[in-house]
Amino acid sequence: MADKAPGSGSNFSRRGFLKAGAAAAGVAGFPYIARAQGAKIKVGLMLPYTGAYAPLGIAIENGFRLALQEAGGKFAGRELEFIKVDDESEPPKATDNINRLVTRDKVDMVLGTVHSGVAAGMLRVTRESGTLHIIPNAGFAPAAGPLCAPNVFRTSFSNWQSGYAMGEVMAKRSNVKNVVTLAWRYAAGEESVKGFKDAFLKAQGKSVVKELWIPFPNVEFQALLTEIASIKPDAVYSFFAGGGAVKYIKDYNQSGLMKSVPLMGAGFLTDGVLEAMGGAAEGMETALHYGDGLETPKNKAFRLAYAKTFKLQPDVYAVAGYDSGALFAAGLTAVKGDMGAKAAMIKAMEKAKIDSPRGPMTLSRAHNPIHDHYLRKVVGNENRVMGIASKALGDDPAMVAACKMPA
Ligand code: PHB
Repeated sequence: MADKAPGSGSNFSRRGFLKAGAAAAGVAGFPYIARAQGAKIKVGLMLPYTGAYAPLGIAIENGFRLALQEAGGKFAGRELEFIKVDDESEPPKATDNINRLVTRDKVDMVLGTVHSGVAAGMLRVTRESGTLHIIPNAGFAPAAGPLCAPNVFRTSFSNWQSGYAMGEVMAKRSNVKNVVTLAWRYAAGEESVKGFKDAFLKAQGKSVVKELWIPFPNVEFQALLTEIASIKPDAVYSFFAGGGAVKYIKDYNQSGLMKSVPLMGAGFLTDGVLEAMGGAAEGMETALHYGDGLETPKNKAFRLAYAKTFKLQPDVYAVAGYDSGALFAAGLTAVKGDMGAKAAMIKAMEKAKIDSPRGPMTLSRAHNPIHDHYLRKVVGNENRVMGIASKALGDDPAMVAACKMPA
């Protein structure tokens, strides 16, 4: 592996990368190609494989592997080698974990992660090293705001987006005026609730009567549900995901609130977890950039292939893993598999139009997806798509403005 070629190594500084990028794409890149083309590209998978978000991490890896399998096991003629780290969705462990991949294993690209707090730790390292970093879930707002960087891409969403889309839906409902929010108190929950409020409170006569919070990954909901029952709002807006969402919706259902106080939220509440809930979410409405019942040829083919390969049903997390593969492949193809030509690779990734199972996806200047958000309703084990909640939704304008991407 020609670590010393300009622009080739994972462990060279962001400033160095910005300067060297153009050179690496041209003549200086040639010796690097000659030595490196045979070597496998090292991909670091920093994902949760234990804890509340473990199923999400597995789905992301599966999705990425499916994209590779469909490309014939190689991207742009290059084989990949995977190095896996279980980040446990533990922010305090993030720095050590990402350093292992970037500094010790010298990965060419890192795919991670799910939890926004862990992603924040990863960014501190990848922004500095210049290592190509694809975020396949964490909606951490600053990643596509003040912390945006040329080498950091997100194929998933910002947490603000689905909150905003659901806020738009609920703002139009004349029978929904007073809302309580309840979410995990960490970046993802806070940003999701902000997105919801940004849209919902724009409409006349709407108010958030109480914001309730519970620390991640706690799932002791009883006292909070009792409080909701006593407030009697018109609806509740929530952000939870994975195992936490399963417990929350089961508890909400059991408390008897489901009929009197509709529970709505970001689609993570019901994505990938319906079977585990055993019908407790029936009829729930959520907004997300994906719905398993999306009737497009691309989605149908994706779902079939995923189910056949992994004997599991895909979800929004699998889609992000799959699209991360597509985005990485688009970059590598543009440079004929030469990871040393980083600037050209990044340019191609920026321009990529991903034919995603979610529908068309492009990236903003801050490298965050611009995509339709759907209103979905739980019918049996499906998040059925009822219509578009928000067309080609971009990100929180405050984050867009805060991203100062070097030209
Ligand atoms: C996040 O931490 O940003 C996060 C985690 C799980 C989700 C969505 C967002 O389903």
